[in-house]
Amino acid sequence: MAASPLYRRLLAGTDEDIDIEVPEDVRSAGITEQAWQADGGKRKQLAIMETPKEMAAGIAALPPARDRAEVDTVGDDDPHFSFRRFVWRHRTALGLGLFLVLLDAVATAAGPYFSREGIDNGVLNGSGAALMLSAGVFFAVVLGDLAVSVAMTLVNGRTGERLLMALKVRVFKRLLRLPVSFYDREMVGQVMTRMTTDTDSFSSLLQNGLLQAAASVLTFTGVLVAMGVMNIELTGVAALVLIPFVLATTVFRRLARGSYVQARERISDVNAGLQESLSGVRESQAFGQQGRRHSEFKRLTRGYLDARMKSQRLISAYFPFLEFLSDLGAALVLGAGYFLIGRNELTPGELIAFVLYLGLFFSPIQQLSGVFDDWQQARVSMQRINDLLAEPDLTPTAAPAIHPGRLTGRIVLGDLWFRYPGVDTDVLRGVDLAVEAGETVALIGETGAGKSTVVKMLARFYDPDRGSVTIDGFDLRKLDPQEFRRQLGYVPQEAFLFPGTIRDNIAYGRPEATDAEVEAAARAIGAHEFVAKLPGGYLHEIGERGGSLSAGQRQLLCLARAQLVDPVLLLLDEATANLDLATESVVSAAMSTLAEGRTTILVAHRLQTARAADRIVVMDAGRVVAVGTHEQLLADSDHYARLWQAFAVTPASRPA
Ligand SMILES: Nc1ncnc2c1ncn2[C@@H]1O[C@H](COP(=O)(O)OP(=O)(O)OP(=O)(O)O)[C@@H](O)[C@H]1O
Ligand SMILES: [Mg+2]
Repeated sequence: MAASPLYRRLLAGTDEDIDIEVPEDVRSAGITEQAWQADGGKRKQLAIMETPKEMAAGIAALPPARDRAEVDTVGDDDPHFSFRRFVWRHRTALGLGLFLVLLDAVATAAGPYFSREGIDNGVLNGSGAALMLSAGVFFAVVLGDLAVSVAMTLVNGRTGERLLMALKVRVFKRLLRLPVSFYDREMVGQVMTRMTTDTDSFSSLLQNGLLQAAASVLTFTGVLVAMGVMNIELTGVAALVLIPFVLATTVFRRLARGSYVQARERISDVNAGLQESLSGVRESQAFGQQGRRHSEFKRLTRGYLDARMKSQRLISAYFPFLEFLSDLGAALVLGAGYFLIGRNELTPGELIAFVLYLGLFFSPIQQLSGVFDDWQQARVSMQRINDLLAEPDLTPTAAPAIHPGRLTGRIVLGDLWFRYPGVDTDVLRGVDLAVEAGETVALIGETGAGKSTVVKMLARFYDPDRGSVTIDGFDLRKLDPQEFRRQLGYVPQEAFLFPGTIRDNIAYGRPEATDAEVEAAARAIGAHEFVAKLPGGYLHEIGERGGSLSAGQRQLLCLARAQLVDPVLLLLDEATANLDLATESVVSAAMSTLAEGRTTILVAHRLQTARAADRIVVMDAGRVVAVGTHEQLLADSDHYARLWQAFAVTPASRPA
């Protein structure tokens, strides 16, 4: 205490009068130039307000766009999602795809026919002209089929990709709107899986599967009819192998189903585990737990491997068996054909056509079972996407929502009861509190008392089970959420920064804010000094979650972010807890000058912080136990007196 002024300041905060000085150059220009100098010209990039002339000329010279950009996201707000309707909206493209698939199937089936013509009329009759005619027509058909195949692949690929994008956008939009409680419950890694693997398998079914299946069924029927017309006995022989074929397929189907579901579940466990381990990588290193994370991950991937191996074993038995049956069919047909030709009931050309047809006869069935494979996977995925899209909104807004305009910020919590979903104890048990417009109220109480929960109710992350939260007399449930939240400044207990520049982070709630406004907000809460020292200043790129900044610096940025939206209601949950006392008093002073016409609810463990508020609310076990100024509470509330006693053991920390 005697030797170090810094120590005294850290312990007791600052007593000096706090003036927020604005230097001359800022007054005129709005921003401090040297705090906006990014290396590598980032500043230029960001500050582009008008398109440079050369670029504008370049854009004007571009040829007109040939593809339509609007990928179908119409009907996104339809709360009842259904895959059928979703697919139906793409019917034109899918219909065109189907038509091309049909053409391709017909062209393929024509091959054996022309072979027979060529052999029977040309080769066996010794007529070169007839052979050339058959071959020529066949060649033309093959050429046409080439064009059809190219178009088919393109059209179907395009449709599949567009469907995939529409679905992803749809799912993402839903994810952004899901209630906060959903994320209390679900692991991010699992949600990621839905976004990637599940949407992919659905689109792959559409892209390769459904059209392929339609083509297969048609080809199969067509070939069967063609064979039957040519020779009924031989068709009977070929059909013999159909019996084991259908049996094998049924068995495979039944066995494979379970392992697909299992594999799906396990891959999302793997992703969730990966995500968790990566976000906790600092902790695992600090506690020397890499080995355990490693074996845990090995266990998860092993589980996935086992599930995949189960289906792989089935596949490895099933598909070769199909191959075998098709070859067996060919052998039987050749044998039977020999006798039929001997009895003059069959021409050699017909036999060759038959063998060629047999190849076309089995491959659609094989393709069908491949599609079935896709279908199994996609069905599981579709179910999961459906579940996600059908996730109920826990904080629905009354229709029609009230558009209140600019609020004044008078808040009343009336007999508020709340428990978190899936928990069986009440966290808030009859909270009553009225806050005047423009008042600053501090919430204090022991850990777990429910302070953060009250703040979250005020931000309407959750709706009360009983009682109500009103602002200016409007129940929060009836207000238009967008309009309400635009007037809300919220700094949560765990401050979050996005990857990007400091400027982007401060302007998160109002991206259109000018640089001058951003700097003003930063100055107002005293963040400007440290920002100006960073390389690039406001254009400094921060890493993921702001890992390159100190905890206090992150809080200052979050405060500036809340400051910039000029909220009517400011919610600060331990928003200054990571600041030293001196910095905190600067922030508090600055905020109170700016807090005019703004209701502020701040949660504080440091009673000194709470003391600066107009009133202090003491919470205990989900109830408000006392309300008043510091002096009133010291006199009236034993609970508060006890907390203060514990806090003020250090004489130096008790301001005179
Ligand atoms: N998402 C959640 N799901 C279930 N229970 C929760 C959830 N969040 C908080 N709780 C429980 O609600 C109670 C109150 O939590 P809350 O975060 O409101 O406490 P607090 O007063 O802010 O504590 P602290 O001072 O430590 O921040 C705690 O017992 C906690 O276990
Ligand atoms: Mg809390």
